[in-house]
Amino acid sequence: MSSYDVAVIGSGPGGYVAAIRCAQLGMKTAIIEKYSTLGGTCLNVGCIPSKALLDSSHHYEDAIKHFEEHGIDIPGEIKVNLKQMIARKQGVVDQTTKGIQFLMDKNKIDVFEGIGSFKDATHVNIKKNDGKTETIEAKNIIIATGSKPASLPFIKIDKERIITSTEALKLKEIPKHMIVIGGGVIGLELGQVYKRLGAEVTVIEYLDRIIPGMDASLSKELMKSMKKGKMKFNLSHKVTSVTRKGDEVIITADNKKGEEVVFTADYCLVAVGRKPYTDGLNADAAGVKLDDRGMVEVNTHLQTNVSNIYAIGDVIKGAMLAHKAEEEGTLVAETLAGQKPHIDYNLIPGVVYTWPEVAAVGKTEEELKEAGVVYKVGQFPMRALGRARASMDIDGFVKILADADTDEVLGVHMIGARVADLIAEAVTAMEFRASAEDISRMSHAHPTYAEAVKEAALAATGDRALHI
Ligand code: FAD
Ligand code: NAI
Repeated sequence: MSSYDVAVIGSGPGGYVAAIRCAQLGMKTAIIEKYSTLGGTCLNVGCIPSKALLDSSHHYEDAIKHFEEHGIDIPGEIKVNLKQMIARKQGVVDQTTKGIQFLMDKNKIDVFEGIGSFKDATHVNIKKNDGKTETIEAKNIIIATGSKPASLPFIKIDKERIITSTEALKLKEIPKHMIVIGGGVIGLELGQVYKRLGAEVTVIEYLDRIIPGMDASLSKELMKSMKKGKMKFNLSHKVTSVTRKGDEVIITADNKKGEEVVFTADYCLVAVGRKPYTDGLNADAAGVKLDDRGMVEVNTHLQTNVSNIYAIGDVIKGAMLAHKAEEEGTLVAETLAGQKPHIDYNLIPGVVYTWPEVAAVGKTEEELKEAGVVYKVGQFPMRALGRARASMDIDGFVKILADADTDEVLGVHMIGARVADLIAEAVTAMEFRASAEDISRMSHAHPTYAEAVKEAALAATGDRALHI
């Protein structure tokens, strides 16, 4: 029987990063993945394919809506070739997942393909596709089994017309009308893909705003911008049934007044969150405690109730984000090596890759108000930037929230072109506990979208924005 210092179950961004860091720190490491490709949800059916389709559909939208104004005439009709678009996306995924295999080889990590389940606290059975089972021994085990799409109890996902994100990433036709249940990250990103490609897209959201976890000003600005793109929104609507009749999906929902509203569409994307995935793991055999939702319970060291078993990523509490899972993978590896790593969960940024992009880190205004913190606000609109006018991406703003007494930056909320990349500046600043004045005194290249960060910081330090 093969024996390891560490066995990682699951090869998503949590699992594969944990494995690499363990190997870097000199531990003999194995990784177990039930699918034939590595990379988990993120690389196979999440972050990477969704961004590939967002980019392709963005190019198409630019071509049909903006090229003419830029002085680019294309003779003949510009058409979507969905088959090629999906094939390109798959090419990007394949290249990326092969990259993880390369990294495993480079770091001398043994990869086992099959379903990993606990035999006991130091042994994992690996059930392979050919039906055979192999058992490995490990001093330490990291559970990184991720998450799966959640649904509503009365919805039957048929994977054809009533679908989750996984199917939405490989549709064979452009829907005529796609109903999206859930105005969160998946609903908006994939809803925008199909809207750009020509579908009518209607979002039904239970709460009174989209992207409800983010600062309310971002929800409002994003919805305004997406409405300009002709996406439709039904907020404060409680979906009560989803049924399929032939190629039609009928959705009923109760609106704010309690009246029933009926929607019909040819596709319904259910995007109401994700749930931790521990099916088949046989956690009981090792004595690992799960909560009612199947989430693995961990302490601040991400250690389960069994001292040599740890858990990371979507399968434990906290934001379901790839970069959060990666930090946790590193934390566990370094803990096992005797180091004292730390994660500041307040500084894990959140990003929505719609256009305009949305990005945030730290506290929202709602959170600061609730905590009774006295704060000041500096906000700067993208439309006042030369760079934004040059590219015609003028929607959005950067908002900095700083402590009213100390000027320490407490939260940064952005919407606009390329803010997914800009947010890194805010994370860096907050990691070093910068004040708004610190940011305002840093030189920002001109012309860039980043100038909005400097201007918002100037605004926060006493209404000193220069270009408005
Ligand atoms: P996962 O990536 O879910 O990986 C878990 C792996 O474990 C899977 O490969 C699974 O097959 C395997 N596994 C499970 N059980 C077993 C078992 N018993 N034996 C062996 N293997 C097992 N996050 C971002 O930060 N940015 C984004 O842009 C983004 N976009 C997304 C878009 C979509 C459409 C979706 C669905 C998600 C997106 N996410 C994004 C979320 C991100 O994908 C997850 O937060 C991330 O993948 C979690 O990583 P993980 O390692 O915890 O788990
Ligand atoms: P989500 O939690 O972002 O959004 C779900 C939305 O559905 C919420 O707005 C919620 O209020 C709404 N909802 C819940 N029940 C409902 C009901 N009965 N009727 C109508 N609306 C209802 O979850 P989503 O979009 O499914 O994404 C899952 C996870 O994947 C997220 O937690 C996110 O972290 C991750 N992800 C991250 C991305 C990124 O970082 N850019 C992209 C895509 C996914």
